[in-house]
Amino acid sequence: QAQNTATLDASGKENLQINKHIYGHFAEHLGRNIYGGFYVGEDNTKIPHTNGVRNDVVEALKGLQIPNLRWPGGCFADTYHWKDGIGPKRERPTIVNAWWGGLTENNSFGTHDFLNMCELLETEPYLAGNVGSGTVQEMMDWVQYVNLKGESPMSKLRRQNGRNEPWKVTYWGGGNEPWGCGGNMTAEYYADLFKQYSTYLGKGYLDQGIVRIASGPSSSDYEWTEVLMKKIPLHLMEGLALHHYAVIDWQAKGPSTTFTEQQYFTTMQRALHMDELIRKHGAIMDKYDPEKKVGLVVDEWGGWYDVEPGTNPGFLYQQNTMRDAMIAGATLNIFNNHCDRVRMANLAQTINVLQAVILTDEEKMILTPTYHVMEMYKVHQDATFLPIKLQSNSYEVGGEKLPAVSASASKAKNGVTHVTLVNVHASKAQEVAIKVEGGRYKTAKGRILSSRKLQDFNSFDNPEKIKPQPFKGAKLKGDNLNVELPPFSVVVLELT
Ligand code: AHR
Repeated sequence: QAQNTATLDASGKENLQINKHIYGHFAEHLGRNIYGGFYVGEDNTKIPHTNGVRNDVVEALKGLQIPNLRWPGGCFADTYHWKDGIGPKRERPTIVNAWWGGLTENNSFGTHDFLNMCELLETEPYLAGNVGSGTVQEMMDWVQYVNLKGESPMSKLRRQNGRNEPWKVTYWGGGNEPWGCGGNMTAEYYADLFKQYSTYLGKGYLDQGIVRIASGPSSSDYEWTEVLMKKIPLHLMEGLALHHYAVIDWQAKGPSTTFTEQQYFTTMQRALHMDELIRKHGAIMDKYDPEKKVGLVVDEWGGWYDVEPGTNPGFLYQQNTMRDAMIAGATLNIFNNHCDRVRMANLAQTINVLQAVILTDEEKMILTPTYHVMEMYKVHQDATFLPIKLQSNSYEVGGEKLPAVSASASKAKNGVTHVTLVNVHASKAQEVAIKVEGGRYKTAKGRILSSRKLQDFNSFDNPEKIKPQPFKGAKLKGDNLNVELPPFSVVVLELT
């Protein structure tokens, strides 16, 4: 088949940065994400931990340099009352997780536990406030509890609970999916409510800036974006969220590991649709915010399949195959290429839920193919964006087409250029001829993630079946870079 061709502009003249927050994660009180995933408690566990947080998880996530972590939901956020999760643990009320399996939880993982864990992970917290069933006062109190240095009833309470200095949380979400689990509101009603919340969130009484993120549309609900952008003045909102999952059909999601090629293709269609979503929501945002002051925050994305047989349907536990590596690689390329508007994103979710980077089984922990893609791509964090124009061959199934190859590129602070490439084609290798303009390189080396079968995954019995390997398929001659990508593979190249 014909070569794919591309042009890499290595000059960096666009002067745009790929915001590291695009590489963010999401930890909801859902299934075994928090309890059993991040947190095993301080008593009665043989699992090594620091204040109840698993040491193996901390080490693994540090390997990704995760820039931010969203908490406590998701749908859970609009049922969560943060004051239930502070103070002596034995006095905290037990609550029902109404959205996820109806389980009771004892609130042993609350605000201090989460924010101290973020310090351990060296990551920035992103707190989703309760707009669906909370009050403006409750959220304002939370902001003061975690952020206020001076004297107030809330900062006093924080000090009583053992934390003197504020944590300085920058990122605040105004509810979650208000068009659905966050209150089934209209866009007009939510826009008014967000303005009200936003008015009291910190401007004026904090000695730091905060980023207030409005709950945005679901996938292609462009009307939602239009209404919010029109009604919410730019001085009250720094971010607008977007949620989009690669799901085949909400009524028939299909299995996580034993999928057919048709199911794979449909998943990739859904995942690659992200590009159109960003362009179209971005165009609406441009109308009201031509200077791009408001960031698009894709704070939920990833593949969503049937839960593993025999597991609680409300826990959303699914395995993670090379298909997930394709979703991750291609989606992150899309985000990088739209870094002028996309300032933050959060993969759903970190541990044991949906497209997880980590799976745990009691004391065992494995890294998924998605973890490895995130690790390979971390070189793009806060790097200078380099445009790469690509003419790709098609991947065709049942008369429908997708571009087989996707790519993005950046230049790190140390001068090294990185190009990430994905070939989503299930059976054909792709040769990519890249013409380098505006720069010169002498060496090209890299790493690849691939496997024998698209359905392959890492299991607790075979945890390292899929992991990055050295890549030998890149040849550099003058300003011509030739890359040979095997079927369903992700490659990161380092050009010096
Ligand atoms: O990520 C799982 C759920 O998906 C979240 O709680 C919700 O925001 C979305 O519908």
